[in-house]
Amino acid sequence: MDIKKVGVVGCGLMGGGIVQVTAQSGYQVVVSEINDALLNKGLWAINSSLSRGVEKGKLSQQDKDATLGRIKGTTTTTDFGDCDLVIEAAVENLELKKKIFADLDKVAPPHAILASNTSGLSIMDMARATSRPEKVLGLHFFNPVPIMKLLEIVRSIATSDDTLETGKQFGKSVGKTIIIARDMPGFIVNRLMVPQLLNAIRMYECGVATREDIDTGLNLGLNHPMGPLTLCDLVGLDTLAFIANGIYEEFKDPQYITPTLLNKMVTAGWLGRKTGKGFYDYK
Ligand code: 3HC
Repeated sequence: MDIKKVGVVGCGLMGGGIVQVTAQSGYQVVVSEINDALLNKGLWAINSSLSRGVEKGKLSQQDKDATLGRIKGTTTTTDFGDCDLVIEAAVENLELKKKIFADLDKVAPPHAILASNTSGLSIMDMARATSRPEKVLGLHFFNPVPIMKLLEIVRSIATSDDTLETGKQFGKSVGKTIIIARDMPGFIVNRLMVPQLLNAIRMYECGVATREDIDTGLNLGLNHPMGPLTLCDLVGLDTLAFIANGIYEEFKDPQYITPTLLNKMVTAGWLGRKTGKGFYDYK
């Protein structure tokens, strides 16, 4: 299928990044948020990110203007009526995602593919909320979306070969390298990443080392671009807890139980970079 117009539900960190790379790759993009304030915040972040690109000479002012010209913001899902692909990038809550998929099924044209950027929730559950489960798949991007080269495509037991092929073509067209995962909690990357991040928190919690030394250990000892506690702050501690709980629910594997310190930090609203405080201070 030929994709011309892409819808994105949610203009937060992930949704905004997806909008940016999709529009930069030449697609028309409609992005929705639940209110004007969040929409304007998200569009402003995309504008700033593109401006930084211009300042660094990575793209021209003309390219930036053309990219912004391809993006339309909205607060109503009816604007997805002529999209060929809609990517949901709302918060990690399965009930909310099921509701969004049911709504999208009503407004998107019958040929449209519906995708979720979920970090690990069940694609089949979202597909079941629609009348087109064969046209539903996971398109899992990584943060920061404009920089990270990977797209993890998730195929449910109902996803058709055509839908998977279109997902792959789309991913390549926005410059990503594709990996394919089955619809199992955490897919490939988060199933491997989450235990490591939770273990780093447990080590810090019981005083094995300072946060800086834990981070420097993996940063310089394993050449990871950032240490695990810094990465927790980038991902968002609430998001990390949602992902870990989602995987634990399914497997009951204790390595996915969230450490007490993580739970307390989420309760305190210390969610990482986005709130200015996590394992480190960003104010
Ligand atoms: N948008 C666009 N560009 C960005 C950016 C952003 N949000 N953040 C950084 N960059 C660019 C910078 O402009 C810079 O570009 P330049 O080299 O042309 O000057 C380049 O990236 C490097 O940035 P910095 O010099 O500021 O800092 P670093 O060298 O430390 O790189 C990083 C920053 C790219 C974030 C790097 O530290 C990194 O790769 N960290 C690991 C990120 C990671 O693991 N992400 C996955 C998280 S898990 C996930 O997303 C799954 C989900 O389900 C939870």
